Amino acid sequence: MAKEISPQEGPQEQFLSTPADICIYGGAAGGGKTYGMLMDALHYVNVKGFGAVFFRHNHNQIFSQGGLWDTSIELYSNVPNAIPGFGLSHWRFTDSRNRTISRVSFKHIERDQDLRKWQGSQICGLYFDELTHFSEKQFFYMLSRNRSLCGVKPYMRASCNPDAESWVAKFIEWWIDLATGYPIPERSGKIRWFIRQDEVITWADTREELWERFNLTTKTERDKPKSVTFIAASVYDNKALIERDPGYLANLEAMPLVERERLLHGNWKIKPAAGLFFKRTQVGKILDALPTDVIRWVRCWDLAASEKSENGDPAYTAGVLIGKRSNGRYIVADVINRQMAAADVRKTILMTAQMDQTRYGNVRIRLPQDPGQAGKEQAQSYIRFLSGFNVTTELESGSKQSRAEPVAAQWQAGNFDLLNGEWNEPYLLQMENFPEGKFKDMVDASANGFLELESGKYDFHFSV
Ligand SMILES: Nc1ncnc2c1ncn2[C@@H]1O[C@H](COP(=O)(O)OP(=O)(O)O)[C@@H](O)[C@H]1O
Ligand SMILES: [Mg+2]
Repeated sequence: MAKEISPQEGPQEQFLSTPADICIYGGAAGGGKTYGMLMDALHYVNVKGFGAVFFRHNHNQIFSQGGLWDTSIELYSNVPNAIPGFGLSHWRFTDSRNRTISRVSFKHIERDQDLRKWQGSQICGLYFDELTHFSEKQFFYMLSRNRSLCGVKPYMRASCNPDAESWVAKFIEWWIDLATGYPIPERSGKIRWFIRQDEVITWADTREELWERFNLTTKTERDKPKSVTFIAASVYDNKALIERDPGYLANLEAMPLVERERLLHGNWKIKPAAGLFFKRTQVGKILDALPTDVIRWVRCWDLAASEKSENGDPAYTAGVLIGKRSNGRYIVADVINRQMAAADVRKTILMTAQMDQTRYGNVRIRLPQDPGQAGKEQAQSYIRFLSGFNVTTELESGSKQSRAEPVAAQWQAGNFDLLNGEWNEPYLLQMENFPEGKFKDMVDASANGFLELESGKYDFHFSV
């Protein structure tokens, strides 16, 4: 059953009708960028010989659940003459006798050497999904393949989310307020012209300006300048999504500051910097007495990677005790952070387990497991060493920053209190300096402890 496919009012409509040679679309999550690009490719599918190629950085991103290919099915299965070529990762658009008129394909470019495959090829409709995942070299190489014999003027379309470190941030600078990092609304969709020579980009408001500046006189020469526009869109422009899945917006709103700024508000300037994850002013209270309504405790350890740090001192081992209360708040009740040799680390962990049990009752102990066989053996040895206690060892995945995000979101929402103790000041200092500070052991232990507390994997029965 064919349902009607149409762009949503606002940026998506603007994106589907821009005359620019190159349009960069988006700058926030959920704005309808990928969907908009797939719709855009339908413009010329009834032109004989037309071809469009969608690029993602890797193969998985095309075929993962809800990825590009799935979205293309959502959309193109409503197009009467569209036929999917599953194994081939393309759609054919056919005439009444099933002869191919045009194609839309999905490919990936992971490394620069993948570009060789495209040498000598001609792509009329060139699409990059998540442009910041590609290098500048990949973008401009493929732009040189943006040609056509089918009569449609070649064009390039790209979607992206903000990334202050990416080359794209520089490329679209004119459309962004450099003081705030947000797109300038009046400039959205405005066209500018550029010419790239010897890897240097020169911009102008009109192509004539570039003709003059570079003394371009022949027709071929005068075709050199390309027009570019940037169209800003955020989830607020995607009413279809907000209506169908209000949780999507709620998730974006619940993200920690840096991610929220980028993905919800489309900020192109924000980068992780000290104070962006944890600020001391976001702590609720320094409590003088332990609250009585703690329902779960976790003592999480970050172990020194080696006995000695670079300057010859033993590295730090951190153990952070976090409790979750029945009112939904969290309390950091104790933090150990000491330079210790390996044998002392084991002893300290055992003694702390005994003291925690006496003071707080059932405390789940979490230890990191290093990758590989040695890490596995060390973990098993710790579990035997701590027999009788509630203990788990976990392989850590993802970056320190991504692991810190869940705890940072709660911290920023003001849901953390600390129990008064001498450790408060060094702890807050390290938390505030993250991710820039040299030491991150207490942050890491807090991040993993919080993940454990919220994992929902375990029973935390208290013995009565
Ligand atoms: N014009 C539209 N009509 C119906 N649904 C749409 C439309 N545009 C976007 N959507 C819905 O919004 C969802 C999110 O859009 P998507 O393009 O994946 O966002 P983005 O790539 O910007 O993160 C899509 O899966 C689709 O269901
Ligand atoms: Mg997308």
